[in-house]
Amino acid sequence: MREFPSLLSLCAKVITMEVICGDQHLQDIFELPPDLVDYLLMHSPPLALQKLHEVLKFEQCGRHGFFSDSVKDGRKRGRYGDFNTAWKILFHSRWPEGVRQIQPIDCMADQDGITSHESMICDDWQQMYWEAHLQDCLDEAAETALLPSFGGCIGEIMVSDTIVNFIGYKGDMGHSTHDYSSLSYHCQQFGCYVRYLRLSSALCVAETCELFRDSKLQRLVLRGIKSKNHVDGACKLLNQNSETLLSLEFIHCRLPPTALNEICDSLYTQGFHRHGIQYFSVKSSRILESNSDSVPTRFLSFLSSGRSLCALKLCDNRLGPNSAKMVFDALLNSSSGLSTLDLSDNYIAGWLSTVDGRFSSCPTSSSSAIDKSLRSLHVLNLRGSNLRKNDVEDLKSALAYAPNLQSLDISDNLIGDDGIRSLIPYFIDASERASTFVDIKVENCNLSCIGATQLLTSLSTLKSPLNTLSIADNDLGSDIAAPLAKFLGTSHVKVLNIEDIELGPSGFLELDKGMPEALELVRINLSKNRGGIEAAKYVYKLILRAPELAVINAGYNFMPAESLAVICSALKLSKGKLERLDLTGNTRCCQPTQVSKLAEFCFRGKPIVILPSLLASAAPYDDDP
Ligand SMILES: *[C@@H]1O[C@H](CO)[C@@H](O)[C@H](O)[C@H]1NC(C)=O
Ligand SMILES: *[C@@H]1O[C@H](CO)[C@@H](O)[C@H](O)[C@H]1NC(C)=O
Ligand SMILES: *[C@@H]1O[C@H](CO)[C@@H](O)[C@H](O)[C@H]1NC(C)=O
Repeated sequence: MREFPSLLSLCAKVITMEVICGDQHLQDIFELPPDLVDYLLMHSPPLALQKLHEVLKFEQCGRHGFFSDSVKDGRKRGRYGDFNTAWKILFHSRWPEGVRQIQPIDCMADQDGITSHESMICDDWQQMYWEAHLQDCLDEAAETALLPSFGGCIGEIMVSDTIVNFIGYKGDMGHSTHDYSSLSYHCQQFGCYVRYLRLSSALCVAETCELFRDSKLQRLVLRGIKSKNHVDGACKLLNQNSETLLSLEFIHCRLPPTALNEICDSLYTQGFHRHGIQYFSVKSSRILESNSDSVPTRFLSFLSSGRSLCALKLCDNRLGPNSAKMVFDALLNSSSGLSTLDLSDNYIAGWLSTVDGRFSSCPTSSSSAIDKSLRSLHVLNLRGSNLRKNDVEDLKSALAYAPNLQSLDISDNLIGDDGIRSLIPYFIDASERASTFVDIKVENCNLSCIGATQLLTSLSTLKSPLNTLSIADNDLGSDIAAPLAKFLGTSHVKVLNIEDIELGPSGFLELDKGMPEALELVRINLSKNRGGIEAAKYVYKLILRAPELAVINAGYNFMPAESLAVICSALKLSKGKLERLDLTGNTRCCQPTQVSKLAEFCFRGKPIVILPSLLASAAPYDDDP
């Protein structure tokens, strides 16, 4: 049956339209009975809600001063909450999938007394609405500005009808005095709500600073900065926001030393020798090229002068060992509280052997200035850095200066057994000092079963418990099963990744045999091990013996059809903690006629078992024997 609009909804439409177009008697709306005001708020398009919100703010603290009538006062104050709810509803209806919001910066999750944490994640939905709205406008404008034929003002770029309609403006509201279709209108009106902005190079021009003069940016992501013009535009914007800016990211940029120096200079607030940047990241860009003559001196002093700097990421920038050395030297020299250092995906083999020869001697005999540095380093990511076993020797010496390291990722480096052997004493030392070293990742490091066994054996005896271990993507074979079972029995590991280590059915049998009575595992990834029915049986036992287990990844294990019954009976006995069991790639165990049995197993309304999609099961996959 067709639904007819109610009189109320028709009236609301007329009123909100009037709110958008006119300025008369807006405050009268708040004299309506509360349930009608509520109805209006919940049915206002953004432009109308914005106007009403402003009226209320003005009423409350504007010309009348304070309300004398306390009942009225309380009611109006309660309205702020109603507004926030209305904004939240508008936000979710426009971006049902959500938007990339300000996430707490990695290092801000630390305890180090970083105060801005709260201001970065908040639930001011009005602010979030307009911030996301402007981002949409800018993304659209960037496409126009990128065209070679574009030579005009950024601010005059037209905002599409689709976007303008979203906020409640319709073309037939002709008599409005505002020009809703220009980008500059949107920046003027809503720029003050923007804290987080992603800009492509086409918009990195001086005019953009003008457009965003009311914004107090905290986080900026700049993409594709290459020419001097872009750099100048970026610097201006950075300087304009230097007092509030906490996080700065560059992606796909080309920043020679001079550009990098200028950028760093612009981050200092006038008259101060300090900057407030906490998170600095350059990804997939070209910086610090070794063939360049000039030295990025200002960049280096930016690194060493920033007491606030807590995370530095220079990933996938083709950094060479000399550049890495330069950065490392500057950090060692500083008294910064750097907590995360990520140099992954560069070519930095040999970098530590050249760091001023400092690491050849033992740390106690070196100067006190060095003692201070890297003390706050918690996370070190050296993934895919082309490191060899010699580099690990140097790394071990360097890590002596990082006594509080919690997480080391050295995956995707061909360090081999010799490499891991030279790190083992560090792990033991760290645990002797009752440090908080908790995460180790040595994926795809060309470890053999012998090296991995040594690692597992020494990790089993650590005094402080390990949280995460990944030895995935090393060709270990079924012989690793016995030491692994022993490790599971003695360590308190919570997250284990043993994906693609060639366990095979006999490996799983062995693991099963040695399985301890109780496990503390929370997540395990045992995919791509060709375990067959033995893998299913192991999963069954895991579910029974690891009461905290939440996520199991058991994909691509060639589980035969009869595995399903095993899995089902395990799920029946599970104690309700299990959120997800991934069986992707086990095409034979999941015939369409059978999978209906799995539907009853849910965690918070979502099915626990993830199955190979029917499409995928129609086509044979690579590994099928
Ligand atoms: C480190 O500090 C020393 C002495 O304070 C100085 O001579 C050297 O240039 C500094 N190195 C870097 C890379 O900043
Ligand atoms: C991997 O390690 C083996 C020894 O276990 C060695 O023979 C081989 O050369 C290493 N592979 C690479 C690519 O370094
Ligand atoms: C296995 O686990 C790791 C870590 O959780 C994850 O990155 C990887 O994608 C997983 N593998 C598969 C096949 O899902």
